[in-house]
Amino acid sequence: MSKVSIVFWSGTGNTAAMAQSVADGVKDAGGEAELIPVGSADIESLKSAKAFALGCPSMGAEQLEESEMEPFMSDLDGAIGGKQIGLFGSYGWGNQEWMRDWESRISADGATVVNGEGVTVLGAPTDDTIEALKDLGRTLARNA
Ligand SMILES: Cc1cc2nc3c(=O)[nH]c(=O)nc-3n(C[C@H](O)[C@H](O)[C@H](O)COP(=O)(O)O)c2cc1C
Repeated sequence: MSKVSIVFWSGTGNTAAMAQSVADGVKDAGGEAELIPVGSADIESLKSAKAFALGCPSMGAEQLEESEMEPFMSDLDGAIGGKQIGLFGSYGWGNQEWMRDWESRISADGATVVNGEGVTVLGAPTDDTIEALKDLGRTLARNA
């Protein structure tokens, strides 16, 4: 069975809820999903995976969360060439620049952003977003 790690940071629960929907999609496709708060993530297991998901809301000024997610992502830079990575996160008021920057960063590292772009939502996940996240999970399970 394919195992998909879903590593995320969430301050108020919106991105955590998104992570749960990705996990539901992985399970729909017969895979095993592992939900991992980024503070507990093992970077070596991601380096050996073919496909995984990363979630983080827009924080700072259109940035990744700086105390846990940004250092984790810095450690992944340079070690994710050829991987399929699903991105997702919630935002509050901005223009989603944090996600566009994150997609560019993943591509510059030589990895592929699954479905071409990250799944974003204003605040809590809507029904449409939940479907997009489940679809992301199903795709990751097929690629893992
Ligand atoms: C310190 C801080 C900085 C934030 N910066 C941005 C921002 O630059 N752009 C934006 O759209 N939302 C910003 N937000 C809003 C969050 O992205 C939004 O509340 C999101 O739903 C939080 O997701 P979470 O529940 O997973 O923590 C910020 C929130 C906080 C607390």
